[in-house]
This record gives sequence, C-alpha cells and structure tokens, in this order.
Amino acid sequence: MKRRRKRLRVDRILYCLGILIVLVYLIILGISAIINYNIFKSVKTDNILKTNRTKLKVWTKTINYINENVDEIILRHDGYDIKLNGNYIKNHINLDLNKYTTKLNKGSFKNQKGLYIKKNEILDEAINIKLKMPYYLRKNNEVDIYGIKDDSYTLYKGKVKIKDKYISFDTSDEYDDYFITYIPLTSINTKTTLTCYVGDELDINFKFIPSNATNKSITYKASNDLLEINGSKIIAKKKGTVVLTIKNTKNNISTDIKITIKKKEKPKEVIKEDEKTYEVVNRDGIYYVEDIMIVNKTYSLPAEYNPGGLSDEFMDAFYQMQSAAELDGIELWVQSGYRSYYTQEIIYNNYVSMDGVESADTYSARPGYSEHQSGLAADINNPDESFNGTAAAEWLKNNCYKYGFIIRFPEGKEAYTGYIYESWHVRYVGKEWARKITESGKSLEEYFGITSVYQ
Ligand code: DAL
Ligand code: ZN
Repeated sequence: MKRRRKRLRVDRILYCLGILIVLVYLIILGISAIINYNIFKSVKTDNILKTNRTKLKVWTKTINYINENVDEIILRHDGYDIKLNGNYIKNHINLDLNKYTTKLNKGSFKNQKGLYIKKNEILDEAINIKLKMPYYLRKNNEVDIYGIKDDSYTLYKGKVKIKDKYISFDTSDEYDDYFITYIPLTSINTKTTLTCYVGDELDINFKFIPSNATNKSITYKASNDLLEINGSKIIAKKKGTVVLTIKNTKNNISTDIKITIKKKEKPKEVIKEDEKTYEVVNRDGIYYVEDIMIVNKTYSLPAEYNPGGLSDEFMDAFYQMQSAAELDGIELWVQSGYRSYYTQEIIYNNYVSMDGVESADTYSARPGYSEHQSGLAADINNPDESFNGTAAAEWLKNNCYKYGFIIRFPEGKEAYTGYIYESWHVRYVGKEWARKITESGKSLEEYFGITSVYQ
C-alpha cells in the first residue's frame, strides 16, 4: 500500500514537470514570435536564413515589404549576396534575382565567358555585391571587373575583394552594369633581338596579347650576369650576349629576347631647344597640332565624338606602364577613362552646383572640353588632391613619359593649362612627344604655344 502511494506521487510530480516544460517552451515561442513580429510583420519571403533585430538574411526571389526597423538586408540567391541598406528598405521591393546573370557576348568581349551584372533601380541601392564565382572564374582566383556605361567598358578598380569562392565589390554611381571575367594572356610579343651599349638602361617594348588580358604581371630573368635587373629597370652591365626572358607565371607564357651588348659609348642625343612654331589645324571638327589631338578650354570636341572607350594605343601603353610599375612595387589602375560628352555634362554641372562656375572651371572641364572624351586620357588611381605626393604619383611623374604619357596638368602650370595640378590625369601623346614635352619641363600648351581659355 505504502509503496503504491509513493509511486503515485512520483507520477504526479513527473506529470507536473512535463506540463511546466511545455508551458515554458510555449512562453519562449510566444516571446520570440512577438519580437520577430516587429521585424517581419509585413515581410513575405520564401525562406529566411538568419536574422537579428536589424539585419535580415533572406533566401528569396521576392520581398514585398520590409519593416522600417530593419536597416540592412542581405539577399541571397544563386550564389549572390546583395546587401541593401538605407532608405530603400523602407519601401517596397520586388526583386527577381534571376534577371542578373547572363553571359556576355558583345563588343570586344565577343565569346568571352563572364558574368554580366545588370544594375537597375534595385541594384542601384545595393551598396555591396557579393557573388559566388563560377568555376571558370574561381580557378584563377583573380578577375577583371568592367564597369559599363554608355556602351563603354572601363576596368573597375574600386574596392574588390576575392575570398574563397566569392568576389565582392562596392557598386559605384559611375556605372550602369558590370561584367566580371578572366581573360587569359595568350602571348607576349617583343622583338627577338636587341642591340645596346654598356651602361644603357634597356627600353623593352612588348605587347600583351590580348591587350585586355587579366593577369599581365611579368618577371625578367637574364641568362647570365651581363644584365642587372632591378624591378622594371634593366641595365646592360658588360659586353657580350645575353638572353632576357620575360615571363608571366600565371599563364605560363614567356618570350625571349637575345640582347647584344656593345662596348662603345652610345653617342648622347643632343636635344636642341625647340624654337619651332606649331600650327593648330582642324580636321573634321577636331583640332590637332602635328598628330596630337588637342582638347582644352580653347579647342573642344564635337558632342557626338565617341571613340568607344580608351583607345587601343592608350591601353597598350598603359598595360606596359602598369607592369613596369608593378615591378617597382607600385599598383596603377585606371580610375576614370573615357567619358562621353553627356557624362561630363553631369559631372561638370554637379561641381557647378556644389562650388559655382568659377571654382568648378579650375578643376572640371565643361562638356566637350574634357580630354576624357578623347579616349586618350585617364585619371589614375585616385583623382583627388590626396594623391599628390604619394609613391604612385611620384612614380607616374618620373616614369609615365617612357610609355608615351604626360602629366597633362602639371604643378605650377595653371596659367597655361587652365587647370590646377592633377597628378593623376595622364594623356597619351606617344613616346616621342611625351619625352620631348616632359624633358622641356613645360605643359602641353606651353610647349606648342597654344592657349586654353574659354571663349
Ligand atoms: N579634370 C579635367 C580637367 C577634366 O574634367 O577633364
Ligand atoms: Zn582627368
């Protein structure tokens, strides 16, 4: 009897305990439902991955409404993470991420595998795109991103991170769409022989094929000690013959140049002070001095002039300069290349509304008067005064002429060029002119005796 009563009591205790556990569980569920209700009260998603009060990770195609309490949403779909934030989240989003991946097959990227990211109203609001790379991009662990605007493709070198299988980059107002790709280098073209003199610094000319290959890093190696190699600087040390190998390890591409080094001193070139006067001629609405296109405050381009991006000669020279700089530990990239008349109009008007005409005219060209429309000029790395005096700016100033570029608006030449010092703005004029103009210490206007003033 006593034993039975004892067992009944134990059963009752266990029963009560069970009810208690269920109650606590229901209360916890209830509280979390109330908390989540604030966040999700109007959100319709297919699948929610993760959340806290202010961050929402969803795996979905369509979000209809986001509560204002959420200040960041990460949308994940088919390997994309697209981070949205700010005011946009306060309203309706109707998003079909399937629209954003296609393969590009046009322009200079014909048959080029890659990912074409279309920016539209929604992606305009995305501050960061994180993308799972397909295998053909992933295996190289390195990609080029092209920013696309007005059908012109500009190498995008904003913040790009590659980690594991993912690439992420910040979107920029400058571009409408993006194309992400890896273009393998197929060959490096150079002369096969070269003759020079002891003491010479070698001017190695080579061309990357294709010129827009993604990885254009090179190393130099000499077959003996007749050459001294220091970054991009190669000096002929002793008389004799030597084979110089230019190699791109990533694509396993290399090319050899047989170099004959002679003893005789190379006669020094006499550079005469040029007293020639130059004439500005107009051909089909475009101004030239000799064979150099002139675009400044005096000489404008027709609004419809569109070379379709930076010219091939600019890009070839730039890639050579970029490789040489890399060997010296300097990274160079084109921050802003070709700009159409209409893009320049937006940029200039924006500066005018911020600073007024007088001030804007000292640093931004009016539409039609910008060299950026010529496809022969670009802003390198960081078009801002903070770039002045940096290692990259100094490298550019001292070396760009070797590749055919001039610093177009040099320091102290404002009266001639019409613009403040721009250490980042280079203009392609070809090696010969670049050397002459740079050695003269003059600006382009001063050198040719031409003006740069608005009428
Ligand atoms: N910043 C240069 C002058 C341009 O706008 O073309
Ligand atoms: Zn510029």
